[in-house]
Order: sequence, then structure tokens, then C-alpha cells
Amino acid sequence: MISAISYKEGHELYMQRCLQLALLGEYYVAPNPMVGAVLVYHDQARGDVVVGEGWHHRFGQAHAEVNCIMDAERRNRIIESEDAFYRNCTLYINLEPCSHYGKTPPCAELIIKKHISHVVVGMLDPNPLVAGKGVRMLQQSGVDVQVGVLEAQCRFLNRRFVCLHEKNRPYVILKWAQTLDGYIDVQRSYDDDCVPLVISNMQTKQMVHKMRAENMAIMVGTNTVLLDNPKLTTTRWSGRNPIRVTLDRHHVLDKTYHIFSDQAETIVYDDDTTFPHILNDLALRKVHSILVEGGTKLLNHIISTGLYDEVHVEVGNMNLITPHKPNLYGVKAPLFPQMLQYKMTVEGNKLYELIR
Ligand SMILES: NC(=O)c1ccc[n+]([C@@H]2O[C@H](COP(=O)([O-])OP(=O)(O)OC[C@H]3O[C@@H](n4cnc5c(N)ncnc54)[C@H](OP(=O)(O)O)[C@@H]3O)[C@@H](O)[C@H]2O)c1
Repeated sequence: MISAISYKEGHELYMQRCLQLALLGEYYVAPNPMVGAVLVYHDQARGDVVVGEGWHHRFGQAHAEVNCIMDAERRNRIIESEDAFYRNCTLYINLEPCSHYGKTPPCAELIIKKHISHVVVGMLDPNPLVAGKGVRMLQQSGVDVQVGVLEAQCRFLNRRFVCLHEKNRPYVILKWAQTLDGYIDVQRSYDDDCVPLVISNMQTKQMVHKMRAENMAIMVGTNTVLLDNPKLTTTRWSGRNPIRVTLDRHHVLDKTYHIFSDQAETIVYDDDTTFPHILNDLALRKVHSILVEGGTKLLNHIISTGLYDEVHVEVGNMNLITPHKPNLYGVKAPLFPQMLQYKMTVEGNKLYELIR
């Protein structure tokens, strides 16, 4: 039916649009996936026309398919019968439609009820509650379904959601800032008033807050709480505050630390503080992603487990130890065993990353 462009290109074009729409829900749908939908009407005279678009806006609210169909009905004067209109349509969605009653009724049921004849899906839903059942429901009702258009891009967009369901653990992102000579801070003790070393600049701080908004949880080690008293909230970017996670084997963190403010939930591990145990527990709580912001001991522990998916390192454009300050002691940056890829320079600081 796609006329001016090839069949394959047409499918990819509309799937690309689904991905753009899905991203509009980025900061508010977790632990749900980001989903976008496009309804295309095959008009004999005009060729393909996009007649509806929708996306999942917020956790607990309507799914993309429902919003897309509502959009189509709102903005199109359906001249022919509703049935005939939908029979002439293809619905594009970056994720398989759900088949179960959750917070909303199953989308596969709605598609069948509306008599949409063709459905193109980016990827199957790895959630065991769906996992192919949505596609099967459609096929059993005679809907023509194609799966796997731009599948790699669809999986990457929802890599946090995919990780939780396929690996049974949250997606893990490690992040730190270090000086050119490889330190993340000056060596400080809890009772001196030495301030933390500032490596990030205004722009890279904002980028970190964007990362906080993208992930469901944020974690730091005990010493970082004691020395920096961080808030770990998202203030320089719109979105929700992540769940704060820290460790306290010796019960040294009292409730006056910012990490215990009522701005977000806080989880403290004090008994078993090994990373595999923490990931296991977070998965049970349906946390699909965690950003680990340091310090070195915690990051080195995680690196040694191999349980991470991305690493982001900011290298400031100054040394800690200089001829003017030769006797300064620093906290060594984590030891990372692989080469990171250069990404960009922001106000003089170089950003490196690794996405596995
Ligand atoms: N530049 C940056 O990006 C950045 C970011 C964050 C922090 N920092 C700096 O990093 C410094 C703190 O780093 P740090 O390496 O000393 O401490 P840390 O990683 O913040 O905390 C480590 C402490 O957490 C406790 N812990 C409990 N379970 C653990 C586990 N499984 N693995 C590792 N630690 C565990 C241990 O204390 P117990 O033995 O008492 O249980 C350990 O000494 C501060 O100076 C802070 O300002 C820099």
C-alpha cells in the first residue's frame, strides 16, 4: 500500500516515528516501557496518510495504542463506516501490544475490536505477562502482524525495561568525574572542612541530572554520603527524582543526611551490601535501572562483578597534583579494565563512554 517509498522504507519510516513519539514519555513511564504508535490509512487516491499518533504519557495512564486510536477518532471525520476505515489501516507500534489486564485493559483486544487489519510491531514484549501472547491474540483474530521492524533500535530505546525482564536485574550505569591525572577527589576525612573537588562544569552537571531523570534509582557508597552529603535529586532537568540507594554496614548514617529527605524514597542496605544482592532486591521492587555515581570503592566493587551495562566518565581539564601542590593526596579514580570511547568535549571537559 505504501506508494512513493518502498514497502520496507515505509515500515521503517513509521517505526522511526513511533520511536520519536515513545521518547515523549521518557521521564514519566518507568517501570513501564516507552511506547509510541502511528495509525496509517491507505487511501486509494492519496496513498498513505498518517491519521493518528499516540504515546504512553505516564505510568498508570493509557497505553500508546489507546491514545493513537483516540487521536485518530478525534481528528478524522470518518466518512465510511468505522469498520471499513480501520480495515484500511495499519497500526505501527514499537512494542508488542499487551494482552493482559493491568492498570488498563489489553491493547490487543482494542485492536481486534476496532478491526484494524494490519499491525507492524518493532519488538516482542519481554515481560512474561505478554511475551508473544499479544501477537498471538491478534493473529488468532485474523489480524496480519509483522514483527521486527527496526528491532535493534526498539530494544535500545527500552534497554532498561528489556534488561529487567530478560536478565532479571536493573540496567546498570556507572558514572564518575576525574581529573587529568586520575583522581576523583582530594583525600578528606569526615571531620575536616575541606570541600570536595569540583570537576564537572555547569553543563556537564546538567547532563548528569538528565541521567538521573532517565533512571529509576541512583546509588552512592557510604563514604560519599558521609563526605559529600549529596541530595541525589533531579533539579537541573525535568523529571522525577530517582530512588536513592546507599550502603551502611556499620550504621553510621543518621537521618539528618540529605539522602533521607522526603524528596524521594531511600533504600539502605546494611546486612548484605554486595552488588548482586542489591540488584536482586531492586529487581523484586521492579526497579529497571540504576545510576551509580561513586565513589571509587563502590565502583571498583561493581566493576569486579561485571554487572554493568554502561560507563560514563568525565575527565576535567586540570591535574590534582601540580608543582604548586605536590603534597596533596587524592582519591584514585576507579580502575576500569577497558578502553572507553571518546564522545564529546563540553566546556573543556572530555566525556568518554562505553555501552556494552
Ligand atoms: N568525582 C566523582 O565523580 C565522585 C563521585 C562520588 C564520590 N566521589 C568522592 O569519592 C570519595 C568517596 O569514595 P570512596 O571510594 O572513599 O567511598 P565510597 O565508594 O563512597 O564508599 C565506600 C564504602 O562503602 C562501604 N561499602 C559497603 N559495602 C560495600 C561494597 N559492596 N563495595 C564497596 N564499598 C562498600 C564501605 O564502608 P564500610 O567498610 O564502612 O562498610 C566502603 O568503605 C569522596 O571523596 C567523594 O567526594 C567522587
